[in-house]
Amino acid sequence: MSIFDLIIIDPRKIVLEQVFFSEANKAALDQVVKEHRYIGELKKYELPVDNKILLHGQSGCGKTTTAKAIANALNKNIVILNLSTLVSSKLGETSHNLKMVFDKAIRDKAVLFLDEFDQIGKMRSTDDHDSGEMRRLVNTLLQLIDYFPHDCILVCATNFYDLIDPALLRRFQLKLKYELPGRTQLDAFYDKKLERFPEHLRGIPRNYEISYAEAEDYINTSMKALIIADLEKQVPAT
Ligand SMILES: Nc1ncnc2c1ncn2[C@@H]1O[C@H](COP(=O)(O)OP(=O)(O)O)[C@@H](O)[C@H]1O
Ligand SMILES: [Mg+2]
Repeated sequence: MSIFDLIIIDPRKIVLEQVFFSEANKAALDQVVKEHRYIGELKKYELPVDNKILLHGQSGCGKTTTAKAIANALNKNIVILNLSTLVSSKLGETSHNLKMVFDKAIRDKAVLFLDEFDQIGKMRSTDDHDSGEMRRLVNTLLQLIDYFPHDCILVCATNFYDLIDPALLRRFQLKLKYELPGRTQLDAFYDKKLERFPEHLRGIPRNYEISYAEAEDYINTSMKALIIADLEKQVPAT
């Protein structure tokens, strides 16, 4: 096994315009994408572009989806590394492995997506050996972030903002919070997701106070049951 076995290359394309965002997040992300579209022109005026983004908050509200959508909007590859996998892997020098992943992303001018970003501080409280390793890892990461080139984008995601080292937090130019969608947002989501189904099935009761991921699962489960029930009604009695 090599470090590249830990990287996920996801070829599925997610269209940024189809992701549901809060207004503040939408505005911030549109701005970043535009900065990278016009990176050459902005460089002429020595204007640096933002390229270090932290997405935090509720699970199932679109952090991973956002990273993929940014990559797709900019026609960039996405290199995905789950930090809990990196930290728990028995691949030896974790810092060296992290550096190799950064190198790959930089070579590809890619979007580098570090998921479960809070895992980077996790070993600190355990035994001495691990805490030395974790300190090295945090220092390496700080350096890698500081020298991260402008034509790449670093997106990190966590459900546990409070666990993240303040020295790391300071490095992000954008910190976007993902919250459970409100009723209006979920209604828009239901409307959109139900569109493709036969009209007589679209009136399912709607659940609220749940994440987009949960709403999507609920829609899929309901629709499968209803469609199968419809199909079974059509089977001629024998
Ligand atoms: N904001 C959103 N807009 C559209 N779909 C979403 C959104 N959030 C979640 N989903 C749906 O739920 C699934 C899981 O979301 P994900 O982005 O993995 O959440 P997170 O990374 O925040 O836990 C996605 O694949 C997508 O189908
Ligand atoms: Mg995720």
